[in-house]
Amino acid sequence: MQTSNRRSFLKNGAMLGAALLASSASGVITTGSNENNQVPQKSKSRKLGSGEHSIEVSALGLGCMGMSYHRSFVPDKKAMIDLLRKAPDLGVNFFDTAEAYGPLINEELVGEALAPFRKEVIIATKFGFIEGKPSLGLNSRPDNIRKVVEHSLKSLQTDYIDLLYQHRVDPNVPIEEVAGTVRDLIKEGKAKHFGLSEANEATLRKAHAVQPLTALQSEYSLMTRQPENDVIKACEELGIGFVPYSPISRGLLTGYINERTKYNSANDNRPALPRYQRDAIIANWPLIEILKEFGDHRGLTVAQVALAWLLAQKSFIVPIPGTTKPAHLQENMWAANYEFTSEELQKLTADLSKVKIVGARYTGISAQQTNK
Ligand SMILES: NC(=O)c1ccc[n+]([C@@H]2O[C@H](COP(=O)([O-])OP(=O)(O)OC[C@H]3O[C@@H](n4cnc5c(N)ncnc54)[C@H](OP(=O)(O)O)[C@@H]3O)[C@@H](O)[C@H]2O)c1
Repeated sequence: MQTSNRRSFLKNGAMLGAALLASSASGVITTGSNENNQVPQKSKSRKLGSGEHSIEVSALGLGCMGMSYHRSFVPDKKAMIDLLRKAPDLGVNFFDTAEAYGPLINEELVGEALAPFRKEVIIATKFGFIEGKPSLGLNSRPDNIRKVVEHSLKSLQTDYIDLLYQHRVDPNVPIEEVAGTVRDLIKEGKAKHFGLSEANEATLRKAHAVQPLTALQSEYSLMTRQPENDVIKACEELGIGFVPYSPISRGLLTGYINERTKYNSANDNRPALPRYQRDAIIANWPLIEILKEFGDHRGLTVAQVALAWLLAQKSFIVPIPGTTKPAHLQENMWAANYEFTSEELQKLTADLSKVKIVGARYTGISAQQTNK
């Protein structure tokens, strides 16, 4: 696709519909080389944040972490660059990375892949750890935020970050100080918008008062519904977007992971997480069966139903499923096209809510805290 065509395609939001159907039907995923496959569609974009602090993004973003970090295998770099470059043609303009993924190498990959059309995409990245390594602890002191941002700009081959998140709240640095530092970076043009990740409601409110937030990114999926109790309501009240990470529960809500799945624990956090243990997977399987049953009657996969359900909760929700495969990306993006009737959404939600989730999402958190 020529740059001008790609730009107008992205401007209209993330549009799949007939273009995707056409490409699916022919078994071919549209690449940047054939703009004739692009049929104008109704917009599938969403808005994160309010007023001057808002950004228009595709209804689903692409989580890039697993292309180099924490999902067992590390695919060939060229294949990932190809995937990232195809993503806009599949309706994605919103890409999620972090200093910590790798560390550093994921930002470099994303930067290299997206450099040819940097101005037409929205890149989100995150700061907040010592040397970018979660295992070394937190560091959101202003000097470290600035240091990380300079490094991210270089890695991402850009002179601005569209959405700059604090990756984890640092109890040693008042959130007002963090928000003030990001406010200064925005004034300097190095970042455009501010986000938090896994912050609680009180922190969200304090940060928002200093520098209005565009998005809160936290784990939210059919296996982790706790955000419905507080932060999603707060986001709605304050006009902040909500970006669910691990929206298909690190692959569980696809049916592809079962109790026999093997991981490479040197590059995967799932073997250490309670929810990915054999007994928990078996106990939680009824959730997959409900999603499958619903999808089977409507031509949807388990992952598509799980993502469509998230999108149906609020108009300011933009999930960022991660994948390393064009076929999965196409499948996931297609979820934005499904519209539930209110009766079927109500019934599906009621059925899913009956399943008591076994196993916490992270060690040290009870399942009850993380479900609902
Ligand atoms: N803020 C934070 O603290 C935080 C924490 C974790 C993640 N994140 C962000 O959120 C993004 C997504 O999270 P995540 O990777 O943890 O979990 P996820 O998106 O729920 O799941 C990703 C896993 O699902 C598989 N998958 C994706 N689509 C599939 C499909 N249609 N069918 C079958 N399998 C499919 C992927 O494997 P394949 O590659 O084989 O498709 C991958 O292993 C990350 O990339 C990262 O950007 C943020």
